[in-house]
Amino acid sequence: MQSTTLSNRLQGVQWNTEHDEPYIFVNEHVRITPIRSSDVDMFVEHFNEPLVNGNPPGSPPMMTREKAAEGVPKRAREAMPAIDALRRGEDAMEACPFSIIRSYPEGAMMGYLGMHSSNHPLPPPEHPSTDYPWTNKTWDVWYNMSPRYTGKGYTKAAVKALIESYMAPIMRLTHVGAGVNVDHVVSRAILTGCGLQEEFRYERFRPNVDPIPRIKMVRRLNQSDYD
Ligand SMILES: CC(C)(COP(=O)(O)OP(=O)(O)OC[C@H]1O[C@@H](n2cnc3c(N)ncnc32)[C@H](O)[C@@H]1OP(=O)(O)O)[C@@H](O)C(=O)NCCC(=O)NCCS
Repeated sequence: MQSTTLSNRLQGVQWNTEHDEPYIFVNEHVRITPIRSSDVDMFVEHFNEPLVNGNPPGSPPMMTREKAAEGVPKRAREAMPAIDALRRGEDAMEACPFSIIRSYPEGAMMGYLGMHSSNHPLPPPEHPSTDYPWTNKTWDVWYNMSPRYTGKGYTKAAVKALIESYMAPIMRLTHVGAGVNVDHVVSRAILTGCGLQEEFRYERFRPNVDPIPRIKMVRRLNQSDYD
C-alpha cells in the first residue's frame, strides 16, 4: 500500500490492489498502467498491427513472440524501482513506470505511450542548478493506439493524463515536448489538445528516404501549480 500521508503531487496516481500496481485514471474505461509480465501476447498483437507500426501489410512481423517473451518481463522488471518508489510515497523522480493504455476493467492493451530524452531539445532551461537534474533535458512524449480504439479521443485523454498526473507533478518537468510529422494531422490534433504548441520546424533524416519535415511542439509547465 502507499504511504498514508501523500504529497499533493501524487494525487493523480491511484493504486490498484488487485495487481498491486499504480495507475493513472484516464476515464472510467481507460487507465494508464505499468507493463505486466502477462502482457506478452497482447504486446505481440499490438506491435504487429500495421496501423500501429506503420509497416506496409505483408512486412515481416515487427514483434516476434520470442522477442516479446524476453522484452516484456524485462520492461516489467525495469519499472519496479519506480513502482516501489511510488509505493513509498516518493514524489520526485526521473523514471516513469507507466507505459500501457489499458481498458478497465477488462485489462486489454489499447495503446502504448512513454517519453524519451529528445534529439531536438529546446535551449537549456534557466535553472541548471536544480535539485532535479533530469528536468534540464527536453522530454518528448510518444504514443500509439490500436485501431480498435482509435477515433474516440482516448489517446488525447491518455497523453494529457500522463503529462498532468506524472510528467508535471512527479518528474517535475518545466516543459514537455513532442516531435510530429508536419502531415500527421491527427497526431498534431492530439498534441494541440494536450496543450502543446508549435515551437520550431526541423527535418528528420533517415537512410534512403527524403528528409521528413517535422514540427517540435512544446507545452510549458508551471511547477508552482503543484506545490
Ligand atoms: C495517431 C493515433 C495515435 C491516433 O489515435 P486516436 O486514439 O485516434 O486519437 P484521438 O481520438 O485521441 O484524437 C484524435 C484527434 O485528431 C482529430 N482528427 C481526427 N482526424 C482528423 C483529421 N482528418 N484532421 C484533423 N484532425 C483530425 C480528432 O478530432 C481528435 O482531436 P479532438 O479530440 O481535438 O477532436 C493512432 O492512429 C496511432 O497509433 N497511429 C500510429 C502511431 C502514430 O502515428 N503515433 C503518433 C506518432 S507522433
